[in-house]
Amino acid sequence: MTLAEVLPSVGLAGEPPLEPGLWPRTTRLTEGGDLTCGGVRLTRLAARFGTPVQVFDETEIRGRAESLRAAFPGAEIAFATKALPVRGVLRVLGFGADVCSAGEIAMARSAGVPGERILVHGNVKTPEDLKAAFTAHAGRIVADSADEIDQLAALAPAGQRVLVRVTPGVDAHTHRALATAVEGQKFGFSLASGAALEAVGQVLAQPGLRAAGLHCHLGSQVRDTGAYAEAVRRMVGLLAEVRERHGVTLDQIDLGGGFAVPYRAGEQAFDLTGAARRILGTLRLECERHRLPVPRLVLEPGRWLVATAGITLYRVAAVKNGFVAVDGGMSDNPRPALYGARYTARLVGRHTKAPRRPWIIAGRHCEAGDVLAEDVPLPADIRPGDLLAVPVSGAYHHALASNYNLVGRPPLVAVADGAPRVLVRRETEEDLLRRDLG
Ligand SMILES: Cc1ncc(COP(=O)(O)O)c(C=O)c1O
Repeated sequence: MTLAEVLPSVGLAGEPPLEPGLWPRTTRLTEGGDLTCGGVRLTRLAARFGTPVQVFDETEIRGRAESLRAAFPGAEIAFATKALPVRGVLRVLGFGADVCSAGEIAMARSAGVPGERILVHGNVKTPEDLKAAFTAHAGRIVADSADEIDQLAALAPAGQRVLVRVTPGVDAHTHRALATAVEGQKFGFSLASGAALEAVGQVLAQPGLRAAGLHCHLGSQVRDTGAYAEAVRRMVGLLAEVRERHGVTLDQIDLGGGFAVPYRAGEQAFDLTGAARRILGTLRLECERHRLPVPRLVLEPGRWLVATAGITLYRVAAVKNGFVAVDGGMSDNPRPALYGARYTARLVGRHTKAPRRPWIIAGRHCEAGDVLAEDVPLPADIRPGDLLAVPVSGAYHHALASNYNLVGRPPLVAVADGAPRVLVRRETEEDLLRRDLG
């Protein structure tokens, strides 16, 4: 066994080391500049499944699920299906499911998630979404507007449990497009204006509905653990107001998801144990202060569980005008174009002594904005046929992928114990033409 196999962040001679915290835990450098993940050589995987291909380290996903359970003992965890709606992943995680459409409900059900552990979200829930939720006997529906509470009162099966989505006014210091708990955005009921308290009253007034608790979601890619503590303070304060105004003690607080992951070298990892200590400690203290029983804590992480488990492999098609152009792009990863997400990449499977210099990696699509990553240190002699690996591509890639330019979406291949397992096959031209009836 080589030193690089024992300590994966240590480089082999001439190979840049793996950036700590960006690669799945079973990733290893091997001779000739190749990487293995789950015991499978990435060059072989690319040869067998083609490129682009998304690789998932099953051990990373399982390890993260275990860490989360250990950090929040007693909490209920529902995976945010929107981050990676794939049955094989839902099964490996073994959590409940946060879903926000009839499609995600169907996926959770077919992955064997019991209805009781399905939480239905959505800033808009269509009649089809609600019907699917009722048919699945979804454990909780998270109400997002007064109109929706009226709809639930009219349509939901008797005893349907409802969480009220609160906008607690906590700024989680994330990208504007990812911040969902500040005033002036489309989700939920404002705490500051009293709308959240009113909404709980509206649910309680409906004999057919059961007010199960409160929900908030600060946003995504949140690093600030203090924002979670502040949200807990405000949510427990609202529980106390509900008891005072309505004489009812709600027994659940759902804090949503949002835990951040690093995408580039030098970015800080989310302090999971520190966050858990702050969240659980604040919850206990605030409940004591308000003389409330400690409610059940529900969490809905997506990105933190799966992002780092994923690597996307691309083949370099051309080097032109200072760009490294690859065979994928905004159709398999729209995040850079959507909100300026930043990535890194490394050359895989070719050893070179060429010095490294910053490159821009461009996608294949007919948009000047189809740029996957900038300022990426790659060898100066990068050339067509080279294989590039982009780490931290497990969350909101497959989920946000499109068929732009009628490019089929890449396959998802899980790796573990030296064997690949296809979770989602590559989209074919036949798939692409099927819905077009001519
Ligand atoms: C209500 C809700 N819960 C959980 C999540 C998951 O967030 P993340 O993937 O950042 O953990 C989202 C993401 O948008 C969300 O809207």
